[in-house]
Amino acid sequence: MPTFTLKVFRGGPTGGTFRDYRVDAEEGMVVLDLVHRIQATQAPDLACRWNCKAGKCGSCSAEIDGKPRLMCMTRMDLFQPGQTISVAPIRTFPIIRDLVTDVSYNYVKARQIPPLRLKPPDADGRYRMMQEDIDRAQEFHKCIECFLCQDVCHVIRDHEEHKPAFYRGAACAAFPSRYEGFGLPVLEALACGTPVVASDLPALREVGGQAATYCPVGDVAHWINSVAELLRERENDGEAWRVRRAAGTAQARRFNWPEHAHRMTDVYRELLAEIAARDETARPLVFTDAKRRGA
Ligand code: SF4
Ligand code: FES
Repeated sequence: MPTFTLKVFRGGPTGGTFRDYRVDAEEGMVVLDLVHRIQATQAPDLACRWNCKAGKCGSCSAEIDGKPRLMCMTRMDLFQPGQTISVAPIRTFPIIRDLVTDVSYNYVKARQIPPLRLKPPDADGRYRMMQEDIDRAQEFHKCIECFLCQDVCHVIRDHEEHKPAFYRGAACAAFPSRYEGFGLPVLEALACGTPVVASDLPALREVGGQAATYCPVGDVAHWINSVAELLRERENDGEAWRVRRAAGTAQARRFNWPEHAHRMTDVYRELLAEIAARDETARPLVFTDAKRRGA
């Protein structure tokens, strides 16, 4: 009977640590079985969530040896006998305790999705749905809400410490957004010297300036050409590539707190001048404590 060391995260919202548990595995066991065995024999207070033990309910998501997995579907024969295996809660969501995270935000969002509104029935009084519409929705019905996809999403997940390497490892960064309020990822990529292809949106142009390449939203052919052109340049023209990367980091350096403070000050000055020009009798705006408190 092989024995494994499971390094299991123990802790709560304010922090925690990994604790080692030596545990025997029998043939056919999965990681969830070993966690249950630990609960039964060594740590009855270890919190973990599961329901079906069949890969159907999605509640046993965890990071096993750093990879997002369902505990009930991760067979122990994937590992070498004697191996140390880490078991941690999924990192995207706040920890409640040990391996249990608070995924309730997903249900809040689900409630915001408008319910299906049926069109009026056909002349014969029957409702009909096109097969292609059924096929389109069918795939989404297969989701078991394990939220592991969100666990690996680099936007949601806290990858602060890996971010520079993550960007620098990319040949280029593509941001095919439809809407953007600012475009922080564009700035991050440029700061790391990674050329950017972004949607042609005012917010992204403001951030990327001349240093990024822009494509019309949804114009797939344009996107393919732009990315291919960048990759060709990287392959064939080292000097142009170096200049492009340097332009990116220079553009990113323009976004700093002193510069931000200057810009905000200018905006307020312009606004005050505009107000004063409209109404010469207007008194200068003075924020007293009472006004700040909203009194
Ligand atoms: S779509 Fe995401 S939440 Fe749904 S089953 Fe796949 S990984 Fe899990
Ligand atoms: S316990 Fe249901 S998917 Fe793992």
